[in-house]
Amino acid sequence: MSTPFRLGIAGLGTVGAGVVKIVQAHGAALAAKAGRPVEITAVSARNRGLDRGIDLSPFGWEDDATRLARRDDVDCVVEAIGGAGGPARALAEQALAAGKHLVTANKALIAHHGHELAEAAEAAGVALRFEAAVAGGIPVLKGIGEGLAANAISRIFGVLNGTCNYILSEMEATGADYADVLAEAQRLGYAEADPSFDVGGIDAAHKLAILAAMAFGTRIDFDGVVTEGIERITLADIRTARDMGYSIKLLALARMHDSGLEQRVRPCMVPEKTPIGALAGVTNAVVAEGDFVGQCIFTGPGAGAGPTASAILADVLDAARGHLSPAFGRPAACLTAAPRLQHGEEHSPYYLRFMLADRPGALASIASALGEAGVSIHRMRQYGQGDPVPVVIETHDARRDAIDAALIAIAALPVSMAPPVAIRIEEV
Ligand SMILES: NC(=O)c1ccc[n+]([C@@H]2O[C@H](COP(=O)([O-])OP(=O)(O)OC[C@H]3O[C@@H](n4cnc5c(N)ncnc54)[C@H](OP(=O)(O)O)[C@@H]3O)[C@@H](O)[C@H]2O)c1
Repeated sequence: MSTPFRLGIAGLGTVGAGVVKIVQAHGAALAAKAGRPVEITAVSARNRGLDRGIDLSPFGWEDDATRLARRDDVDCVVEAIGGAGGPARALAEQALAAGKHLVTANKALIAHHGHELAEAAEAAGVALRFEAAVAGGIPVLKGIGEGLAANAISRIFGVLNGTCNYILSEMEATGADYADVLAEAQRLGYAEADPSFDVGGIDAAHKLAILAAMAFGTRIDFDGVVTEGIERITLADIRTARDMGYSIKLLALARMHDSGLEQRVRPCMVPEKTPIGALAGVTNAVVAEGDFVGQCIFTGPGAGAGPTASAILADVLDAARGHLSPAFGRPAACLTAAPRLQHGEEHSPYYLRFMLADRPGALASIASALGEAGVSIHRMRQYGQGDPVPVVIETHDARRDAIDAALIAIAALPVSMAPPVAIRIEEV
């Protein structure tokens, strides 16, 4: 009988309990695939007495999760506590230092400390894997880090936050406004009671930083992700976008330019008849563009107990088989520190919305301010009657610094009755 691969699971919430369920349901199949039994020997959570709907009686219990790192009967720690620091980080560092493999679903931990953890894993000769941290059940890190390893990736982008995509696609489908759809998402369990990490774009930014490091072989740079959430998107923007043939998505995008790495999470207009534009509900999608393979699309469930635990077990199986591929697709010492693309250098067509006083010359003053900033107009529409009246402009390709300069000038005009809105239009 081959030696069992023994797991210590920290955190028994949505994800951790999901891992226990898969091991209990598919023990024989996992053993066949790993070539050795995969067993849980010990677990840890805050509240030992909580009924989690799973039988924990066969396992050892640790009140202090970091003790899992010191147990002789644990080969691999599965971290499903969450948070960039605190107990999750302490456990991760101690597990690797003690020579345990580490599998985690924790995007915040990897986005902030992934490089140091990758170095520690290499020094200890163990696996550090985090497939579940990006796009839940979709095997996108393995797909990019291993499946597309022969390619130079030029651009990677996607919809990485199911909560935001649910809100935006429900607003589009039902005509309900942002606050009502957010409340419904909270009722359905798609959004947290405090949704700021999701709707503010931080969750997607954590995932994008990890994806970019894997795709470009760069040292992870979460602070370099330019982040804007969906809180300012109105139903009027969504309707206008549809009228113009676009959907609004919270798009996470990383692209390598000659002058630096662009990483941004922003609401963008994308053509509605594309896989990203048509993506509805909580589903995630990631598109990677490689020089030899072309465009690859990964899509599927981005969160939830089953999908996330499924990704964790895939990583566990790799570690159990002795597959110790480097955490970010190449040895930590080979990850380069890419300069950041300067904010103003970004360029694309833009959708601009103004609320203008219904007065002769108002449109001309907008057009002239855009012209002075070097922004040329592709098409322009006035929506309805009233005072103020909404006016929408689609520009030709323009630098972000030119758009910002035009908006500052226009906001100061007497005919401008509300702060202008700019949404990037992205070819996907
Ligand atoms: N939920 C998802 O769909 C999903 C998807 C992808 C990635 N993730 C990531 O997976 C991780 C876990 O998420 P989750 O949704 O499962 O969270 P969760 O339901 O809140 O569960 C967190 C678990 O951690 C335990 N815990 C908290 N502090 C602890 C400590 N000091 N020591 C030991 N255990 C502690 C909690 O114990 P008690 O139960 O006793 O309170 C709970 O069991 C996070 O990093 C998250 O970002 C989640």
